[in-house]
Order: sequence, then structure tokens, then C-alpha cells
Amino acid sequence: MDWHALHPDRVLILDFGSQYTQLIARRVRESHVYCEIHPCTMALEAVLSYRPKGIILSGGPSSVHDAEAPMAPRDLFSMGIPVLGICYGMQLMAHLLGGEVERAQHREYGPALVDVEEPAVLFQDIDPKEVRVWMSHGDRIVALPPGFRILARSANSPVAAMGDLSRKLFGVQFHPEVAHTPCGRTLLDNFLFHVCGCKPTWTMKSFVDSAIAAVRQKVGSDRVLCALSGGVDSSVVAVLLHKAVGDQLQCIFVNNGLLRKGEAETVERVFRDHFEINLVSVNATDLFLSRLKGVTDPEQKRKIIGNLFIEVFEKEAAKLRGTRYLAQGTLYPDVIESVSFKGPSATIKTHHNVGGLPERMKLELIEPLRELFKDEVRQLGRELGLPERIIMRHPFPGPGLAIRIIGEVTPESLRILRHADAIVLEELEAENWYDRVWQAFAVLLPVRSVGVMGDERTYEQVLAIRAVESVDAMTADWARLPYDLLGRLSNRIINEVPGVNRVVYDISSKPPSTIEWE
Ligand code: XMP
Repeated sequence: MDWHALHPDRVLILDFGSQYTQLIARRVRESHVYCEIHPCTMALEAVLSYRPKGIILSGGPSSVHDAEAPMAPRDLFSMGIPVLGICYGMQLMAHLLGGEVERAQHREYGPALVDVEEPAVLFQDIDPKEVRVWMSHGDRIVALPPGFRILARSANSPVAAMGDLSRKLFGVQFHPEVAHTPCGRTLLDNFLFHVCGCKPTWTMKSFVDSAIAAVRQKVGSDRVLCALSGGVDSSVVAVLLHKAVGDQLQCIFVNNGLLRKGEAETVERVFRDHFEINLVSVNATDLFLSRLKGVTDPEQKRKIIGNLFIEVFEKEAAKLRGTRYLAQGTLYPDVIESVSFKGPSATIKTHHNVGGLPERMKLELIEPLRELFKDEVRQLGRELGLPERIIMRHPFPGPGLAIRIIGEVTPESLRILRHADAIVLEELEAENWYDRVWQAFAVLLPVRSVGVMGDERTYEQVLAIRAVESVDAMTADWARLPYDLLGRLSNRIINEVPGVNRVVYDISSKPPSTIEWE
């Protein structure tokens, strides 16, 4: 996509390795200004040809005195483009422009109060008394570069914020992008709107039109395939593409028999009946279950399911001649990860179940969400008229219920789990807990326990309930569901689901546990 045309007011974020870089980008986008993260090694010519309205230098773990410290070209600061350096970004600015950065005696980490010396520009509209900020740094600036003034101080940082107003260069020692800096949003807005002169034009409403135009231009009269899973990302891709190229889009939905209750029907109802999208729905339940017979190892299950998905998808796709493109729901965090100056992430996830598909099928990729964060994708889904239930759907793993049945997957274990899982979701929704947790589901354990029902002794399976809170699935905490709700879940499941006579609640956090049990 040609961002020059699509995003006239764009901001460049140069990443120096901070854990908060994505957060800076999200804050900027939340202010409706388009921005992109690029590695700090981006060449000066590339920066110039990107023509940003402003540049933000992220923080980072280095010290400017380290031999290996990531640098930036000095000329970055003399191109007439406003720059805001955050933490390491500010220290680097000071270092390169002739100031003095003192090596850390100790780290300053946590909340701090700053005294604003100059309430104009960056600190405009911020109450100068008691400005609470979040600090996380070692080194500090002890002498300003020529032309700069102190804008704010704190007990530990004689230069908590600095600026050269005529050259529009600014730096802050603290982190305006984190929630622990309550005035951070105003400060960033001051930079974006008053210093850089950006206009808040980045909205999903404006994105829809430009994305549709860009897809149309790329696809022309060719045909596009889309693997629809019913999850948020592929659903948004499908509807967006359908708006762009109508019947040239063909969606394929593979029912692997490992889905939640009613999922296949919902996908057909929403996409085929409501949106009138060309949809082939393949029921491959028997095939998946026969290949999973006797398999108990979790990674083995994943491999079988992933490979079989590709096999089934390819077979269906082969029936559709003349397809040139494959649409995928790649999101911006995946893109950032693969271009990070630290190199692509070392953690290879077996999570990406359609990996390798485009190469094998010789299809070209269309990734209309590659510029978007998850919350933007949800907003886009709303603009496109997708039902809220799909937009706010919990993540669901590609291998589905197979990794929530500990041990062998059989038609009987699927029946039990699907039924219990539906009760969990139903009750959470009824009590308005569904949207308050990241994921909630049931897990069927290969453990039998003794129970008593009426006058009879039972010997049936144990079912675990898992509900977690999280922001990105990297860490998670077990959700403090009310006892009454847990009690109702247990009652209903034991009464209504034959084969289960005991329910337990999982109170483990991630780490050290994971969200899924397998
Ligand atoms: P864990 O269990 O690793 O899960 O804490 C983190 C997130 O990833 C999802 N997950 C998967 N998603 N295929 C997927 O598409 C998989 O094999 C898979 N395993 C875990 C999990 O639901 C959670 O959101």
C-alpha cells in the first residue's frame, strides 16, 4: 500500500529496543495520527523519503557510552523535522548534539514527580503542579546541548525534559506512553499537534475507503482466496475484501470438527447469508478425527491438525481455477517483530497454522491489516458492520478443542467438552463477564473421580474451567470470577453434561503456567 498517498500526516518512530515502543505507536494512533515503527538503523535517505511530520525516538536498554550502543545519524536533527526523544532517545539526542550524559550510579525506576519549568509547548494544558511521571532509566543528562533549555526537572533527573524550541527538538527522560504517566497523552498530543502540526485524520472510517481502493487496484480482475476461521482477523479481512472485490473473493471455511458449539453454523450464517460472500464450507470432521485417533502428545496433535488443514484447504482451492491471491490477516505487531533491529524473534511459534500455504500454492499475499493493531482491527470490523460477538470474540487456538482434551480426542470427549464449554460461555455472557476476561473455556481432564448422584455411585470425568485476564497473552492472571458464578457453572455442568461429575477452577498464572493446558 502506498502510504505516501494514504497517510499525509505520518510520524516515524525509530525503535532503539524499548519494551514500550509499540505502546508509543498505539498512543499516537489513538490520537488519530498515523505512525510506523522502524528500526533505529533506518538510513537517513529512507527517513527523508518517508517525509514524516515528526520523529519519535524510543527508549532502549543501552547507555550511549556502550561500545555497541545503537546510534542515529547526527543529521537526523538538522532536517527541519521535529524530533521527540524518549528516555534513551533523549540521551542520544543530547549525546550527539554536544550535551553530557552521565553514566548511571543507580537506576531510577518507578513513579516520580517533576517540576515543570516551562509550561509552554510540550507541557501546555498540563497542570504544572505535581506532575506525576514514570521513570525507567540508568544514565542521566547533566549538561544540555547548545541551544536547549530545561523544561522540567525531578529530584533524580536535573533534566527531566529539555527542548530547543526554535529547532523543534525535544526530549523527555520519563515515559509519556505508559499509563503511569497520567499527563503522557496530553504531552504526546502537544508534540503531534502543536509541534509537528499533524491533523487527527487517521481513523478506521478513513482507512476503510483507502484500503478498499488499494485492494481494488492491486487485485484488478484477478481472484482472491481467503481462509476464513471465524476469528476476528480473518473475518475482518473477508468482509473488507468482499467490499473491495465482491464475487472475485472466495472464502474457504474448514470445519475440522474441533470447533466450539455452533461455530460452523455462525460462520455460514454471518458470512454466506448476511454478507453474501462466496463461501465454501468443508466439513472435514471425520478426516480430522480419524487422523487424531490414538494421538495424545500435544505437539503431535498440533502438527497433524496444521498439516491436515493445509491438505484440505489446498484440495478445495485446487477446484477454483485462476486464483492469484491469498488474503491473510497479518497484523502490525507481526510485521514489527520481523523488522525489529534486534532481528526476528527467536521464539518460533507452532501457533501459525497456515504458515507455508502461500509458497506451496504459488499465491501472492494480500495483507490488508498489516498496518493495524488489534484494537484498530476491531474498530475496523465495527465500521464494516460485523456483529459485536465476532469483533469481541475471545482468541481461539487453531487446533481448537483438541488441545483442551487432555489425552486422546474422541467423538465422545468432544461431545462432553463442547457441551460444558458452551455452558461456561453462556453463563459468563449472562453475568457480563465475557468481555471482562481475555479467554474463558473448559478443559477435559483424563481423570475420573468418584461421585454420588441420587442413590448411585458415579465414576466420571473431571472438568477444569480456565478464565484469564491478559493484555497480549504473553502473561496472564487467573480471573477472580465470583464464587456464585463458579458455583452455577459447576452445578450446571454436573447436572447437564453426562460424563462429568466434578468441576475444578484453574488458579494458575502465566508464567509459569500457560493459558492452554496443552
Ligand atoms: P499459551 O497456552 O501459550 O497461549 O499461553 C497463548 C495464546 O495462544 C493461543 N494458542 C494457540 N493459538 N494455535 C493457535 O492458533 C495454537 O496451537 C495455540 N496454542 C495456544 C492461546 O489460546 C492463547 O490465546
